[in-house]
Amino acid sequence: MEKTFIMIKPDGIRRGLAGTIIQRYEQKGLKITAAKLIMVPEELACKHYEEHVSKPFFQELIANITSGPVLAMVLEGPNAIRLARLINGPTQIEEALPGTIRGDFATSTTENLVHASDKPETAEREIKLWMSYMNLA
Ligand code: CMP
Repeated sequence: MEKTFIMIKPDGIRRGLAGTIIQRYEQKGLKITAAKLIMVPEELACKHYEEHVSKPFFQELIANITSGPVLAMVLEGPNAIRLARLINGPTQIEEALPGTIRGDFATSTTENLVHASDKPETAEREIKLWMSYMNLA
């Protein structure tokens, strides 16, 4: 069984889409093994997105992620990392097809509702990082 880290971003919570988004993962067999609604401290936001620190959208990204509570979750299942990314759809909203979370609901590339780990090493790092902040480690 594989685990992945998922975050429903503040825009997803604000728009009341948490239930709909969770249902998409559960419908495909992914199980929630941990979940917590938290305000993201800037320090955690910067650590989580450290690979994007030099990107032009970094400040906008940190502002978005700290603008309200997020639902941080660990999901488990066969091929969980790839499956969650397929359910989310691509980051760029103009590429996200109907049937994916972003294709159906995202309004911009920054406000794209969800984050999911992109590969096994990232999943391991993100789960460890978030579990300690969520006091679930
Ligand atoms: P996420 O999957 O959480 O990973 C990095 C995030 O940066 C991404 O979702 C978007 O929210 C944001 N992002 C990526 N590319 C851009 C971009 N070109 N412009 C603005 N935000 C971006």
